[in-house]
Amino acid sequence: MENIFDLVVIGSGPAGYVGAIRASQLGLKVAIVEKYNTLGGTCLNVGCIPSKALLQSSEKFYSAKRHFAEHGISFQNLKYDFSQMQNRKSDVVKQLTTGINYLMNKNDVTIFTGSASFETENFIKIEYEGKTQLINAKNVMIATGSKPIELPFMKFDKDVILSSTEALSLSDVPESMAVIGAGVIGLELGSVYSRLGCDVTVLDASESILSVMDKDLRAEGQKLLQSQGLRFSLGVSVKSCQVSEGVAYIGFEDSESNLKTLAAQKVLVAVGRKPNTDGLSLENASVELNARGQVIIDDQFRTSQSNIFAVGDCVPGPMLAHKAEEEAIICAEIIAGHKAKMNYATIPGVVYTHPEIASVGLTEQELTASGKDFNIGKFSFKANGRAIAMGETEGFVKIIADKVTDRVLGVHIIGPNASELIAEAAIALEFSSSAEDLAKSVHAHPTLSEVLKEAALDVNKLSLHK
Ligand code: FAD
Ligand code: NAI
Repeated sequence: MENIFDLVVIGSGPAGYVGAIRASQLGLKVAIVEKYNTLGGTCLNVGCIPSKALLQSSEKFYSAKRHFAEHGISFQNLKYDFSQMQNRKSDVVKQLTTGINYLMNKNDVTIFTGSASFETENFIKIEYEGKTQLINAKNVMIATGSKPIELPFMKFDKDVILSSTEALSLSDVPESMAVIGAGVIGLELGSVYSRLGCDVTVLDASESILSVMDKDLRAEGQKLLQSQGLRFSLGVSVKSCQVSEGVAYIGFEDSESNLKTLAAQKVLVAVGRKPNTDGLSLENASVELNARGQVIIDDQFRTSQSNIFAVGDCVPGPMLAHKAEEEAIICAEIIAGHKAKMNYATIPGVVYTHPEIASVGLTEQELTASGKDFNIGKFSFKANGRAIAMGETEGFVKIIADKVTDRVLGVHIIGPNASELIAEAAIALEFSSSAEDLAKSVHAHPTLSEVLKEAALDVNKLSLHK
């Protein structure tokens, strides 16, 4: 029968499409079901890629305005065309989502468009424009991702009160924006609009931005973003929101319990995301969820139903595209009968502000809480030849290593190209390197990566240029 598959993948984000490719490479007959007309999920359509396109465009404008003069480049009437920035963003998204169709075809993955749900553990119902079909699945990979969390008193109206999806597609730059949540989305999209002249205020219940990152990164990040014009109100309790004549009035209690009101043309609510698990009729397949609505899995990605697996944002763990991809690769290998296991200790996290902020491994506060003895090495981009030549000297690299064994436990970077530099640190963790291993590796000169080498030397107080 035509519609019998070894594996049906539900969702075509970084988890789903990558899992489908790997399973097909391993000889399985694979189908992928996506409810939207374009493949690629949140990441490609309304997440990683469009946000990075707008970050790039806005950063070019900001850099031209603030920094080109020091390089001897001057402009008259420097201005931006926001609709062109949006058009470019859409082209970038289109190029990549079309690329996923190409990859599915190349790997013989059958694409079904429609909303999938479980009829039984082996039958998937697909509904699209009033039509229904059933396909038979020996195994299923649930990769349905996540969606923005809504605040009960601040429902998304998609005009004034926005989720990240609408904030990525505004037709004009607003005069003012309130961002609820100083997490990754709040800082990235807040940066985009602030760079383009919008008055951005970020409110967060937590006392610091990026509350799970290393404390030194948080402090430096806040200082640098403030110097670029972002305003922060931290440790607040947001209480209410009223929209009147296109303006939102946000009532909140500040950290000293004073009641305040903030008026803004747009409000971006970025207080986290929740798993996309409604509408799958999981009860028909006896697949269980935890209290947060995430699919419960074991360390082999197997749900409470033995032929059904789940990966990516809809299961516990950090909501990151590369985490989703790696889980899907390993899950496909397990379904194909291979032995595989995910290493969660070496997943880097990057915030694409300027400068970028990137981390892998454990933070200083986690290590202190665990009672482990450690050494810290730190080195600033201020003393690096390449950074000085680039005019990008803000930030530092911090390396934390075990006091006894010198094994690298965590690397935290704020500075130019931190998103690329963190790859070396992730490999160091994956290979259980010592700080000495990193320090003895020859790094090309002049490069930003020499800051990593110097920070590694500094772990044992051997830094050369400090
Ligand atoms: P998703 O990408 O959400 O894909 C799930 C897919 O399943 C969707 O296409 C959905 O339509 C489909 N689906 C759901 N239910 C059904 C159903 N019943 N039937 C059929 N199809 C269904 N992460 C990073 O690592 N780096 C970044 O720079 C980054 N930037 C981000 C920026 C923003 C603004 C946002 C919102 C997120 C960002 N993320 C980033 C997070 C990243 O997008 C997610 O971690 C990633 O997309 C998760 O992949 P996934 O495949 O699990 O889910
Ligand atoms: P987040 O978890 O990063 O940040 C949410 C913030 O909102 C936290 O600082 C929290 O203290 C605050 N908050 C929660 N409830 C609040 C309330 N009621 N009032 C005020 N503040 C409140 O979530 P975010 O930014 O929405 O991103 C969602 C996910 O998307 C993240 O898990 C992230 O991993 C992923 N993402 C990743 C990116 C990257 O890798 N560069 C970029 C964007 C998103």
